[in-house]
Amino acid sequence: MTHKEHILVTAALPYANGSIHLGHLVEYIQTDIWVRFHKLLGNEAYFFCADDTHGTPIMIAARNQGISPEELIEKVKKEHYHDLSSFQIDFTNYHSTNSEENRELATGIFLKLSEKGHIAKREIEQAYCEHDKIFLPDRFIKGTCPKCKAADQYGDSCEVCGSTYSSTELLEPRCSLCGTPPVRRTSLHYFVKLQDFEARLQEWYQQDQHISPAVAKKMEEWFQAGLKDWDISRDGPYFGFLIPGESDKYFYVWLDAPVGYMASALHYFRSIGKEEFFFRFWKSDPDWKIYHFIGKDIMYFHTLFWPAQLLGADYKTPNGVFVHGFLTVNGEKMSKSKGTFILASTFLRHLDSSYLRFYFAGKLSDSLDDLDLSFEDFLNRINSDLVGNLINIFSRSGGAIAKKLDYRLSALDSAGKAILEPIIAKKEAMISLLEQRQYARALREILALGNLINRYINDREPWKLVQEKPEAAREVITVALNGARILALYLKPILPELVQKIEKQLNCPPLTYANLSSFLENHTILPYEHLLQRVDQKSIDAILEESKQTLQEKTAQTTPKGDSSLISLQELQRSELRVGEIVEAKEVAGADKLLQLTINLGELGNRNVFAGIRIAYQASALIGKKCVVVSNLEPRKMRFGVSEAMILATGEGESLSLVIPDRQAKNGDRLK
Ligand code: 2FM
Ligand code: ZN
Repeated sequence: MTHKEHILVTAALPYANGSIHLGHLVEYIQTDIWVRFHKLLGNEAYFFCADDTHGTPIMIAARNQGISPEELIEKVKKEHYHDLSSFQIDFTNYHSTNSEENRELATGIFLKLSEKGHIAKREIEQAYCEHDKIFLPDRFIKGTCPKCKAADQYGDSCEVCGSTYSSTELLEPRCSLCGTPPVRRTSLHYFVKLQDFEARLQEWYQQDQHISPAVAKKMEEWFQAGLKDWDISRDGPYFGFLIPGESDKYFYVWLDAPVGYMASALHYFRSIGKEEFFFRFWKSDPDWKIYHFIGKDIMYFHTLFWPAQLLGADYKTPNGVFVHGFLTVNGEKMSKSKGTFILASTFLRHLDSSYLRFYFAGKLSDSLDDLDLSFEDFLNRINSDLVGNLINIFSRSGGAIAKKLDYRLSALDSAGKAILEPIIAKKEAMISLLEQRQYARALREILALGNLINRYINDREPWKLVQEKPEAAREVITVALNGARILALYLKPILPELVQKIEKQLNCPPLTYANLSSFLENHTILPYEHLLQRVDQKSIDAILEESKQTLQEKTAQTTPKGDSSLISLQELQRSELRVGEIVEAKEVAGADKLLQLTINLGELGNRNVFAGIRIAYQASALIGKKCVVVSNLEPRKMRFGVSEAMILATGEGESLSLVIPDRQAKNGDRLK
């Protein structure tokens, strides 16, 4: 790559109804490393993203929180941007699909498709809830799996047996919001005639070398199966853009979501007075390239629907769609109950974002394979590779020894330069690996070079030399720190904040591939400041524990507000009622209505509960009594301590009565 390139890079837009979690971060970190690498190389690279704000789930989430969808997406956008930036993700612009630019572009694309005859209209039949007065997407229908008969499965697939089916096949279907069985209702829908684009889509993916063979294979299968019309409209009520000429029909969220990439770019280029750059990227300049990073679940949208939209509306198609696999944690799908569904914000409360960037980089390649976050492996890689190998070079050479030498480096003699040679020689390999998204391989090379420098330090023993031959020690740390400086450059796209600290410490200009050979000779560095800690198991345990708790809090927050006294089956299922046994009971000093109870919930352990039942019960009489508690109530801080569950009772005053299981029941059992 000799001349300066212009590239526009995107990562998939997160939905505005959930928090950023570690699964999301695989992609943002992967993309950010690539963009930073290109910038370091001197290319003009832009990184655009936005919140994906439309659709039924977001409309319902807002309704449940008692706020407007606009308020919800505003709040979530701030949270998303904050979390992503905290992981050192450096967007050129972070926009929203509910923006004027997006309305303008999405509507324009639709009108162009219509004008050219690529839109069909016809009536279709769908599930409709007469109580909520909405058409129900598959995810809003629950029922019994037609294959394995598991209860409480979604309208499109079964989480127990893994089969997929249509919502009409689901047994005993019901609306997941209110529990009412849906009815079938017809309405007029708009479709993109995907087949119109078949030849051009084939040409696009076969010509483009940036589609990996695995993705191409998938596309081949889809072409074999035949392209079907794509339904791009939804009936109101729906949160989205109104279809031109309609009063209650909206673009399906996936019609305007990828247009959000363009909207984010347009918003930015307009804001800097360079709107023409938008057109060079999306219309006119074949050398200004577009790359999308996505997960493998949304390949169909990005390799068929999206290029078809662009082709139909006379825009340029992407030059690359880079697909990654899913994240598993400790070898399994992320699980809320195991605490492995970890939010970005939870991770950050306990650990530095650089750790995750380093770990993910060590696992990433251009493949579609899933990648696993194993905490044992995580701990090892951070402590041995990042801290024990790479950071160690700086602390050993730039720390106590450098201090004794007044932080002054010597010149490099030819022997010193010879040590640095293999490190410098890796430059081209490094560039090529990063360009090919082979981060794991790049990191392995960096670690091997780190070992080389550490061995050099061990052999020379500068801590001994510094006593008797300080000038010899000075030469050793000069070689070591110059080597480490080049490694820092190689690491820079992966660990930008850490490398910035290193640049400061080395008292040198920002590292680039262009100044790689500007050695630090006869140069004064700054006093050593601690760069990064080791990770301890306690922080990991705290993350897992807190992730279990966050789930409970989130569940509580999403409880619908409303006037109706009816609750849905789903809401009912959210409360966990369990059998408990009172194992301790005592009066609370200063609170004459309260008793403090310790309630045993079997495998869930003991809970501390403050209950206003003292008027009717003697503490000692309660020991050994079985009771019923709401076990997943958000813990409440009271003046005397934290109450961790609620005990069920009825009646008032002296006739207050605990609700007690009628027969023998096991502690911790859930009520049905
Ligand atoms: O799957 C998702 O999370 C979508 N919100 C991704 C959209 S990417 C783009 F097309 F907008
Ligand atoms: Zn309903």
